Amino acid sequence: MALKITVIGTGYLGATHAAAMAELGFEVLGLDIVPEKIDMLQRGEVPMYEPGLEELLRKHVAGIEGATGRLRFTMDWAEAADFGDVHFICVNTPQKHGEYACDMSYVDSAVESLAKHLNKAALVVGKSTVPVGSADRLAARILELAPAGDEVELAWNPEFLREGFAVRDTLRPDRIVVGVRSERAEKLLREVYATPVAEGSPFVVTDFPTAELVKTSANSFLATKISFINAMAEVCEAAGGDVVKLAEALGHDDRIGKKFLRAGIGFGGGCLPKDIRAFMARAGELGADQALTFLREIDSINMRRRGQMVEMAREALGGGSFLGKRVAVLGATFKPDSDDVRDSPALNVAGQIHLQGGQVTVYDPKGMGNARRLFPTLGYADTAVDAVRGADVVLHLTEWREFRELDAAALASVAAAPVILDGRNALDPAVWRAAGWTYRAMGRPTA
Ligand code: UDX
Repeated sequence: MALKITVIGTGYLGATHAAAMAELGFEVLGLDIVPEKIDMLQRGEVPMYEPGLEELLRKHVAGIEGATGRLRFTMDWAEAADFGDVHFICVNTPQKHGEYACDMSYVDSAVESLAKHLNKAALVVGKSTVPVGSADRLAARILELAPAGDEVELAWNPEFLREGFAVRDTLRPDRIVVGVRSERAEKLLREVYATPVAEGSPFVVTDFPTAELVKTSANSFLATKISFINAMAEVCEAAGGDVVKLAEALGHDDRIGKKFLRAGIGFGGGCLPKDIRAFMARAGELGADQALTFLREIDSINMRRRGQMVEMAREALGGGSFLGKRVAVLGATFKPDSDDVRDSPALNVAGQIHLQGGQVTVYDPKGMGNARRLFPTLGYADTAVDAVRGADVVLHLTEWREFRELDAAALASVAAAPVILDGRNALDPAVWRAAGWTYRAMGRPTA
């Protein structure tokens, strides 16, 4: 009989995972404690913008016309415990307020609420990004709480999905990492992931701590690549070099690779910044803090890029204060193809300029609702052209395709001064300069 799967937590990770599991052919029950989320998902709607996710939900959610009906949602822990052979824990682990460490309270409470009702054999699989050592602790807690005792097991299976590519990354991951303590757990997870493995996703079996560490070290490595190239951008700025050419030349070396070497205003979002901080905090607790002191530097290079963008804007406006200056900001989300504005470098820069008296107008293709909620005092426009109208300087801060396709000449005619600063090194300088713009970018010479 086919495995039945529950997914605990239907946020970004959980909603995607639940839909993907249904797509792989399993019967899936998603659980959340927020009724509004359940209502939306039952209608096949997602509370965030993620390409392809809504289509996948509509294909499977029970009650939607033409759907397979393999995917349902509930708020009832007992129902979820009774339904699933495999229970994926997909709740979030945000940064603790005022601290580097991550907040495990959602994971702890999800595992406890579920475990209390587990009175038959089951595998609980953690997917959330957690401090190393959590799986060990949670396994002991499950043993204490689950009525079925040691028939309930834990496994750790970190998730590497990227926003904007969440569906693809879940259906066909670069690798599947499973931390297990028994052959039975490995066998169940091999069954769950049989399709992606058959299609070529490598399946890596490890112990608990290694599985937890793969995730945090992968994110640390990615953050390091970005801050490395941003440090090179600073040197290029000082020496008159071109960081885009430098990155291209570095990338030809297979050992280095081309990806994640785009210099600019740095990384943001709900994962990389908080994950490297939580990793440092955990290493400190383990007495291994020296191993990760470099991450402090990675974080600080990243954070100072935002301030450097503000200074670049000030300079473009002639030096002095921002008072009375009109600044157009293209981009609010932390990356394109997402409506996520958590720790967004773009909004941070916009906010700093606003606080210093600048008249900031932001436009983003998908992030306006979230940006307005988080930064209600900034100005907003409904189109890129409206944002740029009358601007003394334009800042390109999130590299949406829409911005690369803008009519640079038409835009030059509505700006007060056609000066654009590319904080993402994503626009073509030749195109913008030919259209009459003064184009400047981080880490590149001024032409
Ligand atoms: C990241 C990891 O990539 C993913 O594997 C993990 O599961 C979650 O965290 P995500 O947060 O979706 O995914 O964003 P990512 O694509 O990694 O980009 C992070 C930030 O880095 C963005 O703000 C992006 O603009 C920035 N970035 C990325 C750069 O500044 N330069 C680059 O070359 C690449």
